Amino acid sequence: MSSMPNSIARVNRYEGNATVSTTPYRPDESTARKLERAQTSFLETIVGRRGGLRSILSQVEAVAPTNATVLITGETGTGKEVIARAIHELSPRRSRNLVKVNCAAMPAGLLESELFGHERGAFTGAVNSHIGRFALADRGTLFLDEIGDLPLELQPKLLRVLQEREFEAVGSMRTIQVDVRVVVATNRDLRQMVQDGEFREDLYYRLNIFPLSLPALRERKADIPEFVTYFVEQFATSMDKVIETIPEEAMRSLVRHPWPGNIRELQNYVARGVILSTDGVFQPAPPEKCEPAPVEIRNPTLEDKVRREILVACQRANWQLGGPRGAAARLGLKRTTLFHKMKRLGIRRPADDLQD
Ligand SMILES: Nc1ncnc2c1ncn2[C@@H]1O[C@H](COP(=O)(O)OP(=O)(O)OP(=O)(O)O)[C@@H](O)[C@H]1O
Ligand SMILES: [Mg+2]
Repeated sequence: MSSMPNSIARVNRYEGNATVSTTPYRPDESTARKLERAQTSFLETIVGRRGGLRSILSQVEAVAPTNATVLITGETGTGKEVIARAIHELSPRRSRNLVKVNCAAMPAGLLESELFGHERGAFTGAVNSHIGRFALADRGTLFLDEIGDLPLELQPKLLRVLQEREFEAVGSMRTIQVDVRVVVATNRDLRQMVQDGEFREDLYYRLNIFPLSLPALRERKADIPEFVTYFVEQFATSMDKVIETIPEEAMRSLVRHPWPGNIRELQNYVARGVILSTDGVFQPAPPEKCEPAPVEIRNPTLEDKVRREILVACQRANWQLGGPRGAAARLGLKRTTLFHKMKRLGIRRPADDLQD
């Protein structure tokens, strides 16, 4: 019988001198007792656990076994969802559901019935009753992603369920009690939103019990080689390719790049590089030049803050101002308002073409 083809790709040789750890993650003893094998193996998939994420993960280990609400913040693609999952996996709730809801994905009415469920006939089109995500997450964890986009009119209802652990489905008089651990994430500045009257202060304080702020990839450049080798192996395996070498110059240019889209952008970039690589060498095109990440200013004026927020939103939206994923929508502004603010602050698109 012929032997099975070996489709497991391995990165055998990386010519650079950045150290890439191959030792499995070993939590300290007291934590280890709390964790079972499955949990540890989840942590092993987290890149940077011994580098830029070390302190975040020790906070995750501390908060996971409790029922405390966790607020995860960080730019797009920094791994907020990965951390939300880690909190669930390391908690006693791990054998129950981890239910996710994206608060930015739908209008308020639909979101309310998605979260809390509805009775049959509660509104036009409600042919059947519908069980909401809070009920589905009973005794488990509910991950509310993009919480900064939760419409103002739904905020009191969320506050109530967090405080009283009870709610009513849309169109129902019956109060439902639940035992749900809530983890929320956002890339928006909730404190600023409170000041601008866009987010309820009471809800903000109720969510901000245990904040975790994830670093941008450019602030943890030392982790980039580990990410690259991890993603190269992952994609090579799934594409049934063998990649043996990552040339040092390729790695250096990846470490230098600012990665405004953070880990997700790097991941997509590596996937493209693996598809195009031949002869077992990972030789991606140098990452495209992009606007440098907006610099943090020491004592920013209000104008600096607004300028920075607009720049970040524009870069994330690829300088598209209008449309549902455009910068104006991200900032919660009308496109024309954004256009005037940009003009006043002297912000110009790289293409210098603001006529859309
Ligand atoms: N520490 C990590 N180790 C391995 N993979 C990671 C890590 N962090 C993030 N990733 C991967 O990077 C991608 C982006 O992560 P994730 O979706 O958690 O980011 P996010 O902060 O929720 O982004 P967004 O704000 O755009 O929703 C995912 O494919 C995820 O698996
Ligand atoms: Mg996310």
